Amino acid sequence: MNTTRPRRTCPDGLHVALRIFAWVVVFSAASGSVLAQPQSITAVATHDATLYEDSGGLAANGSGSYLFAGKTDGAVVRRGLIRFDLSAIPPGATITGVTLTMNISRGRGGTQTITLHRALASWGEGASDAAGEEGIGDVSQSGDVTWIHRFYPGTFWATPGGDFAPAVSATSSGNSGPISWSGSGLIADAQAWINDPASNFGWLIKGNESSDPTAKRFDSRTFATVSRRPTLTINYNGPAPLVGACCLPSGACVTTSSGACALQGGTFQGVGVACAPSPCPPAPTGACCLPDGSCSTLAQFQCEQQGGTYLGNGISCSPTPCPPVLMPFVDPLPIPPVAQPTSGVAGGAAHYDIEITRFQRKLHRDLPPTTLWGYEGMYPGPTILARSGQPITVTWMNNLRDAQGALLATHDLPVETCLHGPSIFGSAPVVVTHLHGGQVPADSDGYPESAFPPGQSSNLYTYPNEQRAATIWYHDHALGITRLNVLMGLAGAYVIQDAVDDALNLPRGIYDLPLIIQDRSLNRDGTFDYPAGWQEEYAGRFNLVNGVVWPYLDVHQGKYRFRVVNGSNSRTYTLSLSNGRPLSQISSDAGLLSFPFVQPSITLMPGERADLIVDFAGLNPGSVVVLRNTAPAPFPGEPTDPQDVMRFNVTSTPGDTDAVPASLTSLPPINASEALVERSFVLRKIPMQCAGGGPGAPFEMWTINDLLWDDITESPRLGTSEIWSFINRSNVSHPMHMHLVHFRVLDRQEFMVQGDEIVPTGPRLLPLSGEAGWKDTVNAPPALITRVFVRFDGSFTGLFPYHCHVLEHEDHEMMRQFRARARCPGDSNDDGTVNFADITTTLAHFGMSGPRGVVGDANLNGLVDFGDITTVLSQFGMSCN
Ligand code: C2O
Ligand code: CU
Ligand code: CU
Repeated sequence: MNTTRPRRTCPDGLHVALRIFAWVVVFSAASGSVLAQPQSITAVATHDATLYEDSGGLAANGSGSYLFAGKTDGAVVRRGLIRFDLSAIPPGATITGVTLTMNISRGRGGTQTITLHRALASWGEGASDAAGEEGIGDVSQSGDVTWIHRFYPGTFWATPGGDFAPAVSATSSGNSGPISWSGSGLIADAQAWINDPASNFGWLIKGNESSDPTAKRFDSRTFATVSRRPTLTINYNGPAPLVGACCLPSGACVTTSSGACALQGGTFQGVGVACAPSPCPPAPTGACCLPDGSCSTLAQFQCEQQGGTYLGNGISCSPTPCPPVLMPFVDPLPIPPVAQPTSGVAGGAAHYDIEITRFQRKLHRDLPPTTLWGYEGMYPGPTILARSGQPITVTWMNNLRDAQGALLATHDLPVETCLHGPSIFGSAPVVVTHLHGGQVPADSDGYPESAFPPGQSSNLYTYPNEQRAATIWYHDHALGITRLNVLMGLAGAYVIQDAVDDALNLPRGIYDLPLIIQDRSLNRDGTFDYPAGWQEEYAGRFNLVNGVVWPYLDVHQGKYRFRVVNGSNSRTYTLSLSNGRPLSQISSDAGLLSFPFVQPSITLMPGERADLIVDFAGLNPGSVVVLRNTAPAPFPGEPTDPQDVMRFNVTSTPGDTDAVPASLTSLPPINASEALVERSFVLRKIPMQCAGGGPGAPFEMWTINDLLWDDITESPRLGTSEIWSFINRSNVSHPMHMHLVHFRVLDRQEFMVQGDEIVPTGPRLLPLSGEAGWKDTVNAPPALITRVFVRFDGSFTGLFPYHCHVLEHEDHEMMRQFRARARCPGDSNDDGTVNFADITTTLAHFGMSGPRGVVGDANLNGLVDFGDITTVLSQFGMSCN
């Protein structure tokens, strides 16, 4: 379960700095080199781990972000272990106070008692690192502690579950947030460890093991947020600690013990040597981008101390390499116009000729114009209005041209030509348009390999619109460069209307707007900042809505229907309103929910959509409401600072105050037993050449079942249903999307990996209420099996992609294709074969059934039976094998 986390410049640098800081001995009364008594140190853990009773006592989680204590939902025991380096406390010191603080980030079974016990034997911490919520551990690695091993694989505990003192050293209780232990037992333990450092094996953390569930999950010493890691504060009287100036590789001077200095790769300057003035040699300097957007030439540690981003030694500040700092909410929200057909009517049967062109436009008031690609010269593209049952046709034309008016020869963004796609067509700016959520024939689906260069057009695409009202969208899908083409601007909304939706009296007209949300990093000259190589994940610094950075919308006193499309490459959004009003979700990707789902926030992964009713009635004119995003990137992960999306400025104009109907549509119940087959799709990276990512990047490719685009192994039969299970063996969520079909989310379940077997564990978790409707994209979270029920309806046969909608992953090999096979002729009961039940049904139509001598008894055995059917059907070329 090893996946590479994306490189992140600023936060990681900051963590390094904080980690170093946390190592440092902190004086309660810091004053130069005069060291007064009493003393206090704050230590961080050097080792921590969890003992997992199940999995044969073999699971481990040495380097994980969490440790556990108590009993799980599955009634198995977890015990934590933690150990601190006390070498900064001089021998002979008298311990006067000890407090251990840990943060509970997840709890089961409410407040529970948690006790600390002295561990009585040494134990190790290897490189195992469990995925996801970490509750089931990982495969043990050499040196790991487990339920039965002190050091995997050869050294065992005397007693499985750990050797520890039965006496309780300290007791505390809680279910969430920070909890602390202190008191005489801990003082005695620490004193013993100071007197005999070789006896310091740390504490075993024991939860309530007499009932279940009681488990608590604690943030570990490697948890990303430093302030939530375990800390140990020790007060003591005695000789001065053996500390002095330590010169770190960054050039910073810190006061530490010589041991702590060496651990950080520093050079110890001697006991008692002060840091002011600094005895350290001057550190190299380079450009540092400060939070206010200015550039300053600093040493790396100084830059990090000021919350800046260090760009590297020797990098100059003139011209400034720092990204622009843009003022939010200064540009109005653009509303994409409705696309105008060449013939027919917008919103009905029509033909469109849509040109893809290259042009310049400002994305923010204070930025120079950006070179964009767009449909009909717009970014995002015009909204295509369609009506259920009324087909439209489109000819897509690639008319990308350079500044001289010649057909564009190379892409505007750096192309990773090692990936499948550009490996064939190079850096050519090829395009192909896909209607995401549209149920369309294969030759109109925007087949990724059919991308075509400037000067060419698509064949005539047909969108039958034989589907319910929904907010779907169109975007580019060229093989291996989808992330670049969508980033340049190739996306737009497609709204299907129908009588059911019309009859609901939902907000309409100026109160019915698409919000296409996309993140982008922009340079000061207005160009997009996208790295030259493939990258794991794109996290833009700015959020754009309908093609503008952080726009505002003046709203009336009433309800709006916002058709929200997450059109970002990789970013997941958890949207909420700054005034705390709820969001009323009325649809999921492919149609209405049965009733509005009112929730404080909604999470949309790339490719997902939701129509939201937002009510501004009764707010003070002049007040503002910010649409916020609190989702971490990558997702899931640690919450970062909220990143705003846009702002609503409340006016005094009256608006739509009609009630939202309590019920919207009827959704057919899912009958999972109708599924003909259940197919499994393992999501993970495999070693592979040419995974992109530039020099030195790991050769690891995102795949589905370790297979590639050309490996076609699924041929579902139209007219049948299947269950598709996405098994996420990585530590990020993948929004899994299927072309052609709409599906329903069945459930999610934890699993364990035994050998290479996937063993489901724990209960099947029902989908969220907002996922209860028709969908075409589903969040497959880490360490879970996500199951969807897919009905292969309609009559369109051929090849259709299914893929992760993180475009960076899709452009890797996390996109494959299924072959939709024709409905089985004669399969009247849609079970994918022609069998006796079909025959009976079919024959009954013709009055063919009955006793002896019956019509239809082709083999003259006196009955109408399977043999007859086969015989009869094969006469008409009807067989289904
Ligand atoms: Cu929205 Cu195959 O994609
Ligand atoms: Cu699609
Ligand atoms: Cu993915």
